[in-house]
Amino acid sequence: MKTADDTAAAPRILLIGKIGQVGWELRRTLAPLAQIICVDFPEIDLTSGDSIRRWVRDSRPNVVINAAAYTAVDKAESEPDLAMKINGTGPAILAEEAKKSGTLMVHYSTDYVFDGAKKDPYVETDPPNPLGAYGRSKLAGDEAVRAGGGEHLIFRLCWVYGARGQNFMLTMMRLAREREKLRVVNDQTGCPTWSRLIAETTALALKQMLGARDPSAFTGTYHLAASGATSWHGFAEAIVDLMPAEGRKCVMVEPIPTSEYPTPAKRPSRSVLSCEKLRRTFGLHLPPWDESLKQVLERS
Ligand SMILES: NC(=O)c1ccc[n+]([C@@H]2O[C@H](COP(=O)([O-])OP(=O)(O)OC[C@H]3O[C@@H](n4cnc5c(N)ncnc54)[C@H](OP(=O)(O)O)[C@@H]3O)[C@@H](O)[C@H]2O)c1
Repeated sequence: MKTADDTAAAPRILLIGKIGQVGWELRRTLAPLAQIICVDFPEIDLTSGDSIRRWVRDSRPNVVINAAAYTAVDKAESEPDLAMKINGTGPAILAEEAKKSGTLMVHYSTDYVFDGAKKDPYVETDPPNPLGAYGRSKLAGDEAVRAGGGEHLIFRLCWVYGARGQNFMLTMMRLAREREKLRVVNDQTGCPTWSRLIAETTALALKQMLGARDPSAFTGTYHLAASGATSWHGFAEAIVDLMPAEGRKCVMVEPIPTSEYPTPAKRPSRSVLSCEKLRRTFGLHLPPWDESLKQVLERS
């Protein structure tokens, strides 16, 4: 991998997935740190090895960040091959190309690699056991990035939301303007995490790694999620409480079991992530999920 001396002047970052929730925030957060080459589908296509190799070879980055993915959890059940190509094979080729050129790779994973059977928060070494096609495809990507043998950071995220993109918070806000009552599952628990905090944490960790005498000491997988935990119902109630009252119709968020809201993909019932390794290694700690939610809604 290129060392701190090589990169001190102006690290070049190839950011794949610039339009996604996390990618969009990364683009602005990384701007003071590096020269960023941003790309998204269809200029780059993670189903095409040629496309991936061409972008890495032409842009000659010090760091490649893969924030692109197939993220349609339910649709993946009917398109498992496409999900696997984008989330499994694409990152494998990217990791291979990164290793060849001594480029550090940053990649994102998901809490959906776990089956949710563990009562305590998941740590990085817990055995994965995805319940659906999306989780299986993401797990294949994680394993491929590790197997690629190059320097890397894999951040496992949970319940990503923000002021842009397709996410639960924006869906609940729209529904709360349309309906008096929302029915939301209360038997799935996770850590809603603001896309902006993911980008900022990534940037701070990356800066430490690039500036380190031995960057390889940081290579590995890290859980990156807000503190605390809630159910989708708890998250929805907080969203409705905090959203602007103007135009809001919703007066009640009713808790329901998952059995009353069947979806094509099975989801873990409890996928809380322990972020102790991130704190220990980088000294980074994310605030409670509801504090971030307040900040996001103050701005919208
Ligand atoms: N969202 C969550 O709750 C969540 C939770 C845990 C982990 N994660 C992980 O976090 C990362 C970022 O997620 P996100 O929510 O920011 O994703 P997102 O908003 O869905 O954005 C994904 C981006 O990838 C692009 N993309 C799709 N297919 C592609 C292809 N074949 N080639 C190149 N780009 C392609 C999409 O383009 P189009 O819009 O044109 O398809 C989109 O711009 C992903 O690795 C995801 O698996 C997300």
